[in-house]
Amino acid sequence: MPALLGLYIHWPYCSHICPYCDFNVRRDRGRDTDFLVDAIIADIAGNAIRMDEPRALTSLAFGGGTPSRLHASQINRILDAAECSFGFLPGIEISLEANPADNQGDCFKSFAALGINRLSLGIQSLNAQELQFLGRDHSPKEALRALDFAVKHFSSVSADFIYGLPGQQPHHWQESLQEIMALGLEHLSLYCLSIEPRTVFAKRHKQGLLTPLEDDLVADLYQCAQNMTAEHRMNAYETSNHAASISARSVHNLLYWQGDDWIGVGPGAHGRLSIQGQRQELATYCRPQDYAKAVSENGWGIQLQNALTPQQDLAERIVLGLRLRDGIHLEQLQDRAGASISRKNLSELIAGGFLRLNNHYLQATKPLLVDRIASELLC
Ligand SMILES: C[S@@+](CC[C@H](N)C(=O)[O-])C[C@H]1O[C@@H](n2cnc3c(N)ncnc32)[C@H](O)[C@@H]1O
Ligand code: SF4
Repeated sequence: MPALLGLYIHWPYCSHICPYCDFNVRRDRGRDTDFLVDAIIADIAGNAIRMDEPRALTSLAFGGGTPSRLHASQINRILDAAECSFGFLPGIEISLEANPADNQGDCFKSFAALGINRLSLGIQSLNAQELQFLGRDHSPKEALRALDFAVKHFSSVSADFIYGLPGQQPHHWQESLQEIMALGLEHLSLYCLSIEPRTVFAKRHKQGLLTPLEDDLVADLYQCAQNMTAEHRMNAYETSNHAASISARSVHNLLYWQGDDWIGVGPGAHGRLSIQGQRQELATYCRPQDYAKAVSENGWGIQLQNALTPQQDLAERIVLGLRLRDGIHLEQLQDRAGASISRKNLSELIAGGFLRLNNHYLQATKPLLVDRIASELLC
């Protein structure tokens, strides 16, 4: 089956920077951002002309940062450019990430009118103390208000939550999960807090002011989430993502996990694309000004272009694909990468109960050990 193609648009600005976040983000100081929209539009065209052959988009995702800070007119210009350069396949998923602190009903209404059909809201927690700890600039009430608007205007809505906060006990998380499930959403992303280098949380951790939860407790919280979501028919289809049905799954994120192709535009965006039959790792300049300069000088914003070896390609596809509960199609995986998995490692991991083969799909049996399983498969 030929690979699908998605377009990721990174919008780096946020109202403020959360202490746990290590995404490529900048504080929005209210300056004019049209220069960046212009650069993104030129970059989209620059990517389209570098394709081996014209290919239409299965998905388009605005991520960040906080792309809900874009004006509707800016989103409109970007969508026009993408449609004109690539074309949209029928039923294309067009998604956008939003922060409840920024969003009002009218703005969701105008985004939906432009064709955005999936909204992902960063609620993080419904507990005021937890939100304060996470440095969020919205209350639970504001988050719920934004969610009401989202459900009113978008056919598909997802919400992000973070668990595994210092001191969080299974009964705290269970209570939160009950509230989360009562929202009746069709898609949830439940992320375990990770302390990332160069964040405020990492600094506090180094100073002894923040103690991350122990691994065993994290595993208990993860299991709580699996049990509670399964009771509500919201099983995980990926390590951190839950959906009520196949149609509620994120088309764009599936493209990453299934090893399809995607182009990344905007500062600090990553892409994976086959150019002349070889899988390329692509990344754009991170600073908005550097990115805009590269686009105007080179016709695209790429800082890094690295041809992956078949073995590197295979490794990446396994690490991502094993995150999926359905797993990855073994023959297609090797075919696309142009490299083979060691039969010996595969048999040993299957015999040890870490992997199983189900109708040609290779599946990890222990989702929390996926990275270790992948590295043993590849050693
Ligand atoms: C780009 S942000 C979402 C949109 C929006 N900027 C917001 O924060 O509401 C993507 C999601 O990644 C998750 N995230 C970011 N950093 C994380 C970390 N260190 N640990 C766990 N989850 C994290 C959060 O749940 C966040 O909503
Ligand atoms: S979590 Fe969202 S709002 Fe906070 S800094 Fe990261 S991208 Fe920005």
